[in-house]
Amino acid sequence: MCGIVGYTGRQQAAPILLDGLERLEYRGYDSAGIAVLSPEKGLQVRKAKGRLKVLEALTDGGKSLDGMMGIGHTRWATHGEPNDVNSHPHLSEDERIAVVHNGIIENYVELKSFLVSTGVSFRSETDTEVVAQLLGYYYRRCGNILEAVYRVLDRIEGAYALGILCADLPDSFIAARKDAPLLLGYGDGCSFIASDVTAMLRHTRDVAYMEDGEVAVVSPEKIVVYNALGAEVEKEHHTVDWDVSDAEKGGYAHFMFKEIMEQPDAIRKTVSPRIRDHRIVFDELKMSKEELCAFNKLYIVACGSSYHVGMVGKYNLERLLRMQVDIALASEFRYADPLVDEKTLVIVISQSGETLDTMAALRKAKRLGARILSIVNVVGSSIARESDDVLYTWAGPEIAVATTKAYSTQLVLLDMFGIYLAELFGKLPYFLYDELIGELLALPSKMERILENTEQIKYLASRSFNRDSIFFIGRNLDYALGLEGSLKLKEISYVHCEAYAAGELKHGTISLIVDGTLVVALCTYKALFDKSVSNIVEVKSRGADVIALTDESLADALSKTVSNILTIPDTHPIFAPSLGVVPLQIFAYYVALQRGCDIDKPRNLAKSVTVE
Ligand code: F6R
Repeated sequence: MCGIVGYTGRQQAAPILLDGLERLEYRGYDSAGIAVLSPEKGLQVRKAKGRLKVLEALTDGGKSLDGMMGIGHTRWATHGEPNDVNSHPHLSEDERIAVVHNGIIENYVELKSFLVSTGVSFRSETDTEVVAQLLGYYYRRCGNILEAVYRVLDRIEGAYALGILCADLPDSFIAARKDAPLLLGYGDGCSFIASDVTAMLRHTRDVAYMEDGEVAVVSPEKIVVYNALGAEVEKEHHTVDWDVSDAEKGGYAHFMFKEIMEQPDAIRKTVSPRIRDHRIVFDELKMSKEELCAFNKLYIVACGSSYHVGMVGKYNLERLLRMQVDIALASEFRYADPLVDEKTLVIVISQSGETLDTMAALRKAKRLGARILSIVNVVGSSIARESDDVLYTWAGPEIAVATTKAYSTQLVLLDMFGIYLAELFGKLPYFLYDELIGELLALPSKMERILENTEQIKYLASRSFNRDSIFFIGRNLDYALGLEGSLKLKEISYVHCEAYAAGELKHGTISLIVDGTLVVALCTYKALFDKSVSNIVEVKSRGADVIALTDESLADALSKTVSNILTIPDTHPIFAPSLGVVPLQIFAYYVALQRGCDIDKPRNLAKSVTVE
């Protein structure tokens, strides 16, 4: 999705903006641009289709643009094809105002015809240009840029994070937000805005999150924030504790591989502070034990891989709690009539905390009276702020578009929450509770064992990379695991693959299994091992080439049926998906590598999906 960065201070702005945009590259984009203001040269805008390298070359790494204040943008095309003209920043007709925008202006057609009727001519096909032109229109009439901004915000509908540079405002620029993330950064003699904290991490860790309806006037020494009514508001500051190095490759060829390798540590950071005296402690929970005990249903809502975490969670939590656990894709939930009320705890899962559909689902659940507990990685993100309770994953910044360490930490945290509730509800015998805590603490070292030797996975990937179609099959938790394994593979390698509940094969899918079809059979769920083996026999007898994943203790038994076996260390069944996902991530990585794909930035995908 699009990215925004803005800077005002004592240094040349353009190189800082380009560096910030580079940190936002991982979000996915197809063009980039910057606007810089200097007293001598006025407003200078440079933009270009393609990678940031093109813009860097065009501006000599930013050196050719004078000025100590500017705004920058990476665009992910929605309205209008990716080209130089449609790239941001967009200008008012008199070229005195430049605008960068994340989000979508829904009533742009109506506003555009209004502006055209007043004689304004448009240069691009974008919805964003309407904001720049409307600002120009009101600014010409009222002569005050802040007032013009408020008038524009009154008229535009949709989602926006805006950075606005006006040639008549020499050392401040303006920012505004509604339903799209925007942060303020307080540096030493300089100030920032950014859609994502990674863009300013090199310069400051002191940040504040803009709320919907707020407008900020950003100057080097201070940032003044106003609410929707124009009254000044005091912002709460947060210190970001992510390391700059966390957002760098650190010698790895790809962020994805680095993040796969970081999983044991990310899990340690997420789990260890919440275990005291061999017991799970959620100090951060605001809901009382009585309130938690009063719910009669859990409802998990999320998108993509976070939804797959929820799928594992549904199996595990229902088993642990003997309580109804529903699950829905956020994009479906928001337009359905879900059975949710004040007795429902809705668990919202989101790495970014900014996914628009998930946010909309959260708000719907709240309107229906439910309480919201979210599992989020980005501290202070919109979903975290709108939830009644937040459990943070401590995965650190995840840069690769395909999630790995965020998935793993979300999963372990959801399992922990399930165990915590089960104990609270009196549903867990103490010996089982003890066993589960022991296994939870052992997960990072078991994961390390998988990561120590990836040669066999690499070899199997080298034999599989040229397949047109791959099937993942599994039962119960293995089915939920297959959903994630298959998504990982398709998103980064562009190989068509599907995950099926193994018992469903006979109901249609088996017709696709022919000589040489690759089937990845997941057999980590011990209780249904024999059933899964039967499914393997079934697909093999139709000519399938099978790679199986199972627990170390079951490998011998499986070797009678399958020759290509990957193993994970044995663990309690509820944690098997936490280990099982690792070989599947690595398999996807090596298949994509062999196919020469852009692993960290797969085509058409964005890290944080802030549009519908
Ligand atoms: C896949 C992936 C996506 C996200 C989904 C939800 O690798 O990363 O499927 O899981 O877009 O994103 P969050 O968790 O940020 O709400």
